[in-house]
Amino acid sequence: MTGFAQPIDLQRPPRIQFGVGSLAQLKPYLDESGLRRPYVVADAVNAARLDALGLGQVPCFGQVEPEPGIPNLRAAALAAGDADVIIGFGGGSAMDLAKLVAVLASTNLTFEEISGPHRIPGRRVALIQIPTTAGTGSEVGTRALVTDPDSHAKVATESVHMLADLAIIDPELTMSVPPHVTAATGVDAMAHCVEAFTSRRAHPLIDAYAIQGIKLVGRYLKRAVEDGTDAEARAGLAYAAFCGGVCLGPVNTTAGHATAYPLGTRHGLPHGIANALMFPHVLAANAAARPEKTAQICAALGFSGASRDSVVTGALAFCAGLGLDMRLSSHGVLEADLEAMAEEAHAIRRLLDWNPVDLSMSAILDLYRAAL
Ligand SMILES: NC(=O)c1ccc[n+]([C@@H]2O[C@H](COP(=O)([O-])OP(=O)(O)OC[C@H]3O[C@@H](n4cnc5c(N)ncnc54)[C@H](O)[C@@H]3O)[C@@H](O)[C@H]2O)c1
Ligand SMILES: [Fe+2]
Repeated sequence: MTGFAQPIDLQRPPRIQFGVGSLAQLKPYLDESGLRRPYVVADAVNAARLDALGLGQVPCFGQVEPEPGIPNLRAAALAAGDADVIIGFGGGSAMDLAKLVAVLASTNLTFEEISGPHRIPGRRVALIQIPTTAGTGSEVGTRALVTDPDSHAKVATESVHMLADLAIIDPELTMSVPPHVTAATGVDAMAHCVEAFTSRRAHPLIDAYAIQGIKLVGRYLKRAVEDGTDAEARAGLAYAAFCGGVCLGPVNTTAGHATAYPLGTRHGLPHGIANALMFPHVLAANAAARPEKTAQICAALGFSGASRDSVVTGALAFCAGLGLDMRLSSHGVLEADLEAMAEEAHAIRRLLDWNPVDLSMSAILDLYRAAL
C-alpha cells in the first residue's frame, strides 16, 4: 500500500507551545495542572540559568553529560525524590534523560526492566520538555537514547509513556548555542528529515514535514552558525527540529544514522557531527533509488542532485560551509577501525531495514572509506 491510504500512527504531545517568549507559559501550566513539585533535568549550561524558567528555587539535576550513559541516568533518577513533574531543560541529552527519569520516578522498575521497545507499563509523574538546541526533536518524541558503558552501544527505549504532556519550544533559548554545536545539531535535524523522506516506509503525511524541515535548514542553518542572535534563523531551525522530531516517530531514520552511531559509540563524536560526516555518502548511495526526492533535497540545500558525484560534492560543500571538517580521519578515525564500525552499523537492523537500498557490509565499508 502506498500514498495517503497507508496506515500511520501519529503520537505527539497533547500541548505544544512554540515561539519566542513561550517559556513564560511554564509557570501558568504548572499552576493550572496542580503540579507543585517540579524536578529539572539539565546539562551544566542550562542548570546555570534556571531562573529563566520563572519557578524560583527549583530542585535540579544539573550534570547531564553530552550523549549520556546509564550511570548518568541513574544519578539523575536518584535525586528525583517525590517530584510530581519532571522538566527536561537542555538538548537531546537532557530531554532523553528526563523521559526516563519521569518513568523511573513513576514506578519501582529499573532501567534494565524498561529499556528497549514498548516495555513501560505507564507513567504517573508529569513530563515537560524544553529544548535549548535545535536538533534532536526529542521534545515531541517517544524515544530516549542512552549509552551502555560496557558495550558502548546506544540503547534505544521507546514508549508512548515517554511522550511529554507539554513541550515548550522557545527559539530564544537556542541563541546561546555556539556555532559548532549549532551546525552539528542543525544537521541532525536535517538528517532526521532526509532519512525519513527517503525511507522505505516514507509516508506523504510525514513527507510534508520532512521537506519543510530540509528547506528551513537550507535557508537558515548557515545564517544561525554565522550569527547566533539571528532571531528569524533560530526560530526557523527550532521548527525544523520539530519537523525532524515528527519524522522520527512513525518513520524514523535509516542508513545515515545507522552508519553514524559507531562514530559516536566508538570514537565519541557528537551525534550531529557523526551524522554530518556520513550524510553526503549515504545520500549519494541512495540517490538512484530515490531520484526525485534526492533532487528535491539537494535543491532545498542549494546544490544540484543531477548525478551521484554532484550529490556528494554538493552535500560535502554544504556541510563544510557550516565549518564542519568532513573527513573521518580528522576526527581520529583510522582505516583499521572501519571494518568493526561497518559490522556494528550493519547490525542496526531497526534502521537499515528501512533504507531504500540494501547495504551489505562491504557497501557500508565503502561508505566509510569514502568518508575517511
Ligand atoms: N530522542 C530522540 O529521538 C533523539 C534523536 C536524536 C538524537 N538524540 C540524542 O540526543 C543527544 C544529543 O542531543 P543534542 O545534539 O541536542 O546535544 P546535547 O544535548 O548533548 O547538547 C550539546 C552541548 O550543547 C550544550 N547546550 C545545550 N543547549 C545550549 C544552549 N542553549 N546554549 C549553549 N550550550 C548549550 C550542552 O551543554 C552540551 O554541551 C544524543 O545522546 C543523541 O543520541 C535523541
Ligand atoms: Fe539524530
